[in-house]
Amino acid sequence: MDKLAIQGGKQLSGELRISGAKNAALPILAATLLADGPVIIRNLPHLHDVTTMIELLGCMGVELVIDEKLSVEVNVKTISNYSAPYELVKTMRASILVLGPMLAHFGKARVSFPGGCAIGSRPIDLHLRGLESMGATINVKGGYINAEVNGRLQGVRIIMEMVTVGGTENIMMAATLAQGQTVIENAAREPEVVDLAKCLIAMGAKISGHGTDTIVIDGVDRLPGCTYDVMPDRIETGTYLVAAAATRGRIKLKDTCPEYLEVVLQKLREAGAIIAVGKDWISLDMKGRRPRAVNIKTAPYPGFPTDMQAQFMAMNTVADGTAAITETVFENRLIQTHEMNRMGASISIEGNTAMIFGQSSLQGAPVMATDLRASASLIIAGLVAAGETCVDRIYHIDRGYECIEEKLQLLGADIRRLSD
Ligand code: EPU
Repeated sequence: MDKLAIQGGKQLSGELRISGAKNAALPILAATLLADGPVIIRNLPHLHDVTTMIELLGCMGVELVIDEKLSVEVNVKTISNYSAPYELVKTMRASILVLGPMLAHFGKARVSFPGGCAIGSRPIDLHLRGLESMGATINVKGGYINAEVNGRLQGVRIIMEMVTVGGTENIMMAATLAQGQTVIENAAREPEVVDLAKCLIAMGAKISGHGTDTIVIDGVDRLPGCTYDVMPDRIETGTYLVAAAATRGRIKLKDTCPEYLEVVLQKLREAGAIIAVGKDWISLDMKGRRPRAVNIKTAPYPGFPTDMQAQFMAMNTVADGTAAITETVFENRLIQTHEMNRMGASISIEGNTAMIFGQSSLQGAPVMATDLRASASLIIAGLVAAGETCVDRIYHIDRGYECIEEKLQLLGADIRRLSD
């Protein structure tokens, strides 16, 4: 299993380009199942999860043409199998996003039921309830969700009991080909949901209200297809900004979108960073100073993103002062704490809140990653620690960060991949 070895203590400095967003790319790839004609998706990030979604479409018999820059042309005319097998779903929960599109386009779908994962139980009850209210019959048997609909799905008004990104995406996709109007209330407002809506509109869907908590979809008979560029990854952007802030460095990130990161940039300013933004770039300069501790409470967008919580915890371990981090989206997402304490951090947990007492430094240690963002936070901890940190199980990182060690090397980090 690959590991990352980091010699800490270097201030990050330099410029980077940000990749396409994983969490927009995955639903957009699933959405290609809705189109009649070819769909070309560009700016896909080169990530393990993206490859898994492509593999999933491939195993259904969908025709895929991939070029060297990872633009993918998808044509679903050749689809022969309406099933998402356990072997793929168990490696990537986002596979559940094929359920709504397959049901809406082909009237049937069989998708392995995703289990819990390291960060929480992550049920999908709201996806299933929404599709049932649109007329689908759903049975769970032998670990599989078997869904079908007689004729077309029907537009309805759905009030989401809680804000769910995937649930909103699945129902929004299904509603594009339903008969009549669907209104999703208490919808997720995440930029990735908006990007998916824009892609669906480019395909021929009629959607309004995306980016607000009420999304209205008027079903159409068919979606002809489109060419679409995936939005920049706001979490990749935020991760490099925090890595630079924690190491007292200075960086500029290009091909990104500052508008989606307002609350993250606000917190970095509070930590003492000098931030400048342009239309598609962000620069951060710590002027060599130690970050100040910042309190965080995660919430659905436009609140503070749960996907950035672990990285801010890493910064707070070496910040000036004491910070409280409260995780409200997932029940078990403070999992990086114990590994950070092994590196000399001082963090105590009470319920869903972590108190982080900033230390003047951390010490390198062997640590183990348990999920994607926790892995990113351990890399940041390794970058600020004295001596060597070896991060194990970095297959988690490869699911969500394109070429992370090359990008960090470009910023002056001493990091290398060790393969067994
Ligand atoms: N939830 C339910 N029932 C449902 C759906 C969700 O109770 O039917 C709960 C979840 O258990 C969780 C909360 O609602 O407590 C929010 O979950 P949500 O559905 O919004 O999350 P998701 O769609 O499964 C996406 C991202 C996550 C990101 C969350 C929150 C993708 C592929 N994944 O997950 O990204 O943390 O939204 O913003 O878009 C990551 O990239 O590392 C990652 C985990």
